[in-house]
Amino acid sequence: MKRVLLVCYSQSGQLRRCADTLVAPMREAGCEVDVVVPQPKTPYPWPWGFSGFLSVFPECVKGTPPEMVPESLQAPQEQYDLVVLAYQVWYLAPALPIVGWLQSGAAKVLNDTPVVALCACRNMWQRAFVALKKLVSAKGGRLIDHVVREDSGPAWATFWSTPRWVVTGDKVGATGLLPPAGVNDADIATLAQPGAQLAAALTAGALGGSVLNGSEAPIKREFVIPELVARFFFERWASVIAGSAGRSRWWLSRAFFFSLCSSVPLLIPAAVFALVIRLFARGWFQGKVDELTA
Ligand SMILES: Cc1cc2nc3c(=O)[nH]c(=O)nc-3n(C[C@H](O)[C@H](O)[C@H](O)COP(=O)(O)O)c2cc1C
Repeated sequence: MKRVLLVCYSQSGQLRRCADTLVAPMREAGCEVDVVVPQPKTPYPWPWGFSGFLSVFPECVKGTPPEMVPESLQAPQEQYDLVVLAYQVWYLAPALPIVGWLQSGAAKVLNDTPVVALCACRNMWQRAFVALKKLVSAKGGRLIDHVVREDSGPAWATFWSTPRWVVTGDKVGATGLLPPAGVNDADIATLAQPGAQLAAALTAGALGGSVLNGSEAPIKREFVIPELVARFFFERWASVIAGSAGRSRWWLSRAFFFSLCSSVPLLIPAAVFALVIRLFARGWFQGKVDELTA
């Protein structure tokens, strides 16, 4: 019998539903699936509220996890045939509870084990995935596949509806004009397909390399440079905010948020800049694209 470990922290339950849909075919194929839900000692709020949402920004960017509940980290077995590592994105980085698990001793269960990463987020996951890959390989895990489901609405709508959802808990909004935030049921259901492919490969023998061949996390080349530029500014803001306390931290967090919102009109010159880089620094750009494969 094959053993699968699912590691999944989810606040609204969205990521957990995605993960359950992905592993359901493995359960049906007779695999034993253990679940670890990493818990921070001080739970993150849901919904976050505006201050809560801003307060976690420096730690996310710096990849500094909170103190974790030790008993929530340990997997029941010492070895698995596959680890499914579910993560969501917080400020272009893997969410802190999964970082907390990956940096803990419990993640030694990844050593020399095939890992499939599963992400459910708004739509900007590429830099977070690069960070996740580093954390997995630091524990000796072999990342073989990456599966992504993005919020189902158009990007212009989720730019507003996703933050509103996580800040207020309201998926629909008072006007009901925008599509509901998050990954919809139909998109979650499509995870049964890669789940079935993984289950078939797993029950046929030991997992060597990729089963899904990049089909479930198509690289968005147009987001490569915008995410790198955003990370550049995020890192600087995070250092300044982390170095402050009390009232000044409060003001700096809001200044960061204001700068983020007011950068929207810069999208067009930024797109031109990105195009120029892609034309004149092709080797460098391709290197950044290559980082995004599992
Ligand atoms: C603090 C915070 C920051 C977030 N930043 C991003 C982001 O940079 N990119 C993105 O695509 N989604 C982002 N999201 C959305 C989450 O990835 C995720 O879709 C949402 O929190 C629901 O996850 P859940 O399954 O834990 O409820 C953010 C959410 C939170 C709470």
